[in-house]
Amino acid sequence: MTTAESVRVTALPLPLVRQGKVRDVYAVGNDHLLLVATDRVSAFDVVMHEPIPFKGAVLTQLSAWWLRKLEARFGDALPHHMVSADVPQIIAQVPALEAHRETLSGRAMLCLRTDVVPIECVVRGYLAGSAWKEYAAHGTLAGDALPAGLLESSQLTPPLFSPATKAESGHDENITTSAVVAQLGAERAAHLEKYSRAIYEFGRETAAPLGIIVADTKFEFGVRHGQLVLIDEVLTPDSSRFWPANQYAPGHSQPSFDKQPLRDWLDAQRRASRWNGEAPGPTLPSDVVQATSDRYLDAFARITGASLDLAALGLRHSS
Ligand SMILES: Nc1ncnc2c1ncn2[C@@H]1O[C@H](COP(=O)(O)OP(=O)(O)O)[C@@H](O)[C@H]1O
Ligand SMILES: [Mg+2]
Repeated sequence: MTTAESVRVTALPLPLVRQGKVRDVYAVGNDHLLLVATDRVSAFDVVMHEPIPFKGAVLTQLSAWWLRKLEARFGDALPHHMVSADVPQIIAQVPALEAHRETLSGRAMLCLRTDVVPIECVVRGYLAGSAWKEYAAHGTLAGDALPAGLLESSQLTPPLFSPATKAESGHDENITTSAVVAQLGAERAAHLEKYSRAIYEFGRETAAPLGIIVADTKFEFGVRHGQLVLIDEVLTPDSSRFWPANQYAPGHSQPSFDKQPLRDWLDAQRRASRWNGEAPGPTLPSDVVQATSDRYLDAFARITGASLDLAALGLRHSS
């Protein structure tokens, strides 16, 4: 069997619904989607040319791991979209994919198709990223006042439900909970907040004993037969900020578990005026690619307690 260590773009014999920065999304009949997390990586909103080996598999298998955990914890009270993240099973259901086994290895998830709720449900346990920027400038988040005196990376107690619009291009915009109520109605808005908080809390409690802080995370929901369903990726490094607890100190930004080697290198390129921060990104040296790949694999192993089984996923020849 051949293996594909890195996949930058896919071309599957299915209708392409969307190509995101990282994920290629295909329709499977009317009722299902195939989400393929490629090995593309974006940093500072620029998708790099070089793929990161095993990153797609880490994202897909980590989402699948969390969805199984959530299912065990919440059961039918929290419906989710995953049908299967097992490629042999997916191919059994969609035989047209047989010739694309290597591309799909570890990276593909067959999902129930939903009508996407156009809100990014962000939960913030710590003040970082766009929230810190707004707070530093105005003392607010999405226009609402926050307590005075918070530092960058300060803990937010209780965590904040911090919705954002799903922008088609460019940056998502933080909005207030009342804006969500105005858009979706009070009942649905409350439901989104309740689910989001519960999943974040579960993620945080799971990660804490492992020395990992889930600083913030983003969920998406869809509607299917009138019911809210958790969709998209869940508690992955691409949708969340994971921080090493033993290095945590408020007052500055925290090192992240995953893209830090890439971000540090890109920062250095910018400081040296070798990159203007816009697409196309600079050619990544192989040691940066390798270090980033190692970090993603390490994040998977730390969170789930076991290394990603590359051979079982068909990503490496079994010896
Ligand atoms: N079960 C689902 N039903 C409908 N849409 C989904 C489902 N799961 C994920 N999606 C959508 O798939 C898209 C993935 O694309 P995108 O977020 O742009 O990719 P990336 O995260 O790689 O940038 C999102 O718009 C998300 O809402
Ligand atoms: Mg996305």
